[in-house]
Amino acid sequence: MNMKIGIIGCGVISNTYIRDIKRLYKDLEIVAVADVNLEAAKECAKKYEISQALSVDELLDIPEIEMVVNLTPPAFHTEVSLKALEAGKHIFCEKPLALTMEDGKKVLDLAESKGLKFACAPDSFMGSSLSTCRKVLEDGWIGKPMYAITNMLSGGVETWHPRPEPFYKKGGGPIYDMGGYYFTTLVSMFGPVSSVRAVGLKGFEKRNVYVGERAGESFDVDVLTTYSILVSFKSGFMANMNFSFDVFKTQMPMFEIYGTEGTLFVPDPNMHGGTPKIYRRQQGLAKCYGGVSDHEDDIYELPEMFQNVGEYVRGIGVHDLALAITEGREPVASGKLALHVLDIMTSVMKSAETGDVVELSTTILI
Ligand SMILES: NC(=O)c1ccc[n+]([C@@H]2O[C@H](COP(=O)([O-])OP(=O)(O)OC[C@H]3O[C@@H](n4cnc5c(N)ncnc54)[C@H](O)[C@@H]3O)[C@@H](O)[C@H]2O)c1
Repeated sequence: MNMKIGIIGCGVISNTYIRDIKRLYKDLEIVAVADVNLEAAKECAKKYEISQALSVDELLDIPEIEMVVNLTPPAFHTEVSLKALEAGKHIFCEKPLALTMEDGKKVLDLAESKGLKFACAPDSFMGSSLSTCRKVLEDGWIGKPMYAITNMLSGGVETWHPRPEPFYKKGGGPIYDMGGYYFTTLVSMFGPVSSVRAVGLKGFEKRNVYVGERAGESFDVDVLTTYSILVSFKSGFMANMNFSFDVFKTQMPMFEIYGTEGTLFVPDPNMHGGTPKIYRRQQGLAKCYGGVSDHEDDIYELPEMFQNVGEYVRGIGVHDLALAITEGREPVASGKLALHVLDIMTSVMKSAETGDVVELSTTILI
């Protein structure tokens, strides 16, 4: 398989995609990059020795480009994906798929009607650490999984991102930005979500820009920035999840799964590599049966059972989409999965606004 691809959106995350596609997937050739800001495209092309820096229309006019990687900010995902599909390109889109279910369905319907494939970030659930966690769960190491607690508690993006406003405007906030990593991971392990109930708040009315050319400026916050959520899965599994851009230090665990026979400590779902850990109930029970346990409180690191190509890595979903196109199958990070995750995200935000329990409208089994 050899495939020519184009990248639209030459901002912060394009650096990671281009670095890792060039490093890991030699059968993908990035023939052009495009951006509404042509200077950004030119700088990117020069930095990564890509031959063409173009406008979006010029890139979409290149017939050899089979797949487009949409790395624009979330508010532009639908517009750029629809345009690229109209031009006959398969798409890998950064998260979220769209801002509304209506737009998400529009994109997937157009892809289907044109016979084109659509995949969507996050793809970190395909990485080595989360694949290891799924294997450990499937093999019954913690018995029957019942419950998860996750905490994505951060102080926001403005200490490292030069353009932080979109994270605090319509289409921003911690659910659209970080929810996908946690929800996709749990759905990949425990199947579809049936309902959510959530509360939320806005920690600050204004935020500051700290890095880049506009350091020192401030802007209004338009969205909720802290959420506490209860999630029910169709299987009976449940999760208690917190997301915040208003927490500057925490000692809460990031991601734990509790089963009838133990606890699985899951690494950061935004990463591809990381060390899963486990505690098994039998460690504590030994003394109850007259035995001696020197390891009653020990938590054991598990070896990663899949190739670890680095911690913060992007591109595995792009490569899988190229293989899916060639093999005539659905990509693992499929549009249907992304639509279900978008359903979870929009339902969480609706629940926080209305105070109601929100039943999901989609189901996906992967
Ligand atoms: N920054 C990260 O660490 C990170 C990590 C994972 C995922 N993401 C996701 O990647 C996407 C991009 O994030 P980013 O941080 O790189 O943003 P960014 O603001 O740094 O870059 C976005 C780029 O897209 C360009 N752009 C905007 N509208 C466009 C349009 N209509 N057509 C073509 N180009 C357009 C902008 O000029 C800019 O160069 C988002 O969906 C984000 O959620 C970002």
